[in-house]
Amino acid sequence: MRLANKLVMVTAAASGMGREGVKAFVREGATVAAVDIDQAGLDALVAEIGPSVKPIQANLLDRDRCRSVVHEAAELLGGLDLLWSHAGIPADGVVEGIDLEALDRTITLNITSTMLIAGEAVGHMRRRGGGAILFTGSTAGLVGSMGSPVYSAEKFAVVGYAKSLAQRFAADNVRVNVVCPGITDTPMLPQFFASGGDPKAFEAKLLASIPLGRPARAVEVANAALFLLSDEAEYITGVALPVDGGYTCR
Ligand SMILES: NC(=O)c1ccc[n+]([C@@H]2O[C@H](COP(=O)([O-])OP(=O)(O)OC[C@H]3O[C@@H](n4cnc5c(N)ncnc54)[C@H](O)[C@@H]3O)[C@@H](O)[C@H]2O)c1
Repeated sequence: MRLANKLVMVTAAASGMGREGVKAFVREGATVAAVDIDQAGLDALVAEIGPSVKPIQANLLDRDRCRSVVHEAAELLGGLDLLWSHAGIPADGVVEGIDLEALDRTITLNITSTMLIAGEAVGHMRRRGGGAILFTGSTAGLVGSMGSPVYSAEKFAVVGYAKSLAQRFAADNVRVNVVCPGITDTPMLPQFFASGGDPKAFEAKLLASIPLGRPARAVEVANAALFLLSDEAEYITGVALPVDGGYTCR
């Protein structure tokens, strides 16, 4: 078991990659606090996986809730060893005449919530002698994105924060990494295709730019998350790992 007895919190846990992550972590021996806004999705997850999943409903656009949810998770689990801060949303592709409300929303979920959650989690990990934090970036946080400049900037911020925290928290034995999916087959994917103008044309263009020629499956990203959170990666910190079928290797 690669996560035997580990106490883990996962955000955006009710769907897609987060959901696959919860399943993999429990299979490997962890108990997981699964955080999501979608109560029905969390109920379905518990029904499928059982009592090793502790559901917590939270809207991570609420900054106070970002803080309180970490302590609720640690209390429910009896501590916290590992965090996958996975929640995020696409931004629209507009540059001229950006809608400020929409911008605030994406910055809050993609950057602020990640910062607040990690900031609250590290103290719990320190008390247990160490741990690991994983953020979800994107290939758009490693190379520019013509279709989604705002989203790209937000995901670059996540990578910069992770690399900085990796240095800051090394003395606490807390590793900090980023998993950077390319286009991945989850319910969110159509929103990415829609962000670049004509969705069909943009989808074809994106697929043509992936050497392996297809989107990732959610479980393939979850497998990378499992590795980065496990002790197998105990000498890896400050890394932004693309899981992208070769998209960023040009
Ligand atoms: N799918 C892709 O192609 C892709 C590519 C690169 C990066 N990402 C990143 O992956 C993450 C999303 O993962 P996914 O593709 O598995 O998505 P998904 O659509 O399958 O799941 C997203 C989950 O987030 C939850 N959520 C949405 N808003 C929330 C909020 N305010 N508070 C709490 N939970 C909320 C939803 O209920 C849902 O369960 C994001 O960080 C996204 O930027 C996705």
